[in-house]
Amino acid sequence: MNKAVYPGSFDPTTNGHLDIIKRAASFVDELVVGVLENPSKNPLFSTDERVEHIKMLTKDLNNVSVLPFFGLLSDFVKSVDAKMVIRGLRTVTDFEYEIQMALTNRSLNENLETLFIPTSAKFLYLSSSIVKEIAMFGGDISGMVPEILKGIIIDKFRK
Ligand code: PNS
Repeated sequence: MNKAVYPGSFDPTTNGHLDIIKRAASFVDELVVGVLENPSKNPLFSTDERVEHIKMLTKDLNNVSVLPFFGLLSDFVKSVDAKMVIRGLRTVTDFEYEIQMALTNRSLNENLETLFIPTSAKFLYLSSSIVKEIAMFGGDISGMVPEILKGIIIDKFRK
């Protein structure tokens, strides 16, 4: 069975993330979306909230599950019995960080392969940080995040 992990912070999930989830789910047997629990990052949404968002967004994708993880990605991948990590790639800047991460993960678990999926062109500029910055100042995040998350993000900044 071809099982892969798509890890990330997903704070919040963007249309770019969702695009990668859908594309990866179309060619692997099972996709586990791993949501990083990282207290030092001080996320906008709690780990539980981020997991719930992705569950809601992927409810129609039968081969996708969502789990939180804490600690090393290579350990999480092993714990769910997967051998592949999926990461989306936008720019050269992404590549420098991603290749470092892929090689580090492989040195920790030699059976682990990282597969990069190039972002869809329309999401090239998109990131969770940009979405948060725009939302914080009351800008329009339509088209950047799934419609169902838009209100949830705006509400979070109102509180
Ligand atoms: O969405 P992000 O923030 O770009 O995702 C980064 C993530 C969660 C994939 C990365 O930070 C990660 O894997 N963290 C777990 C810690 C780890 O395994 N570090 C060693 C590899 S660099």
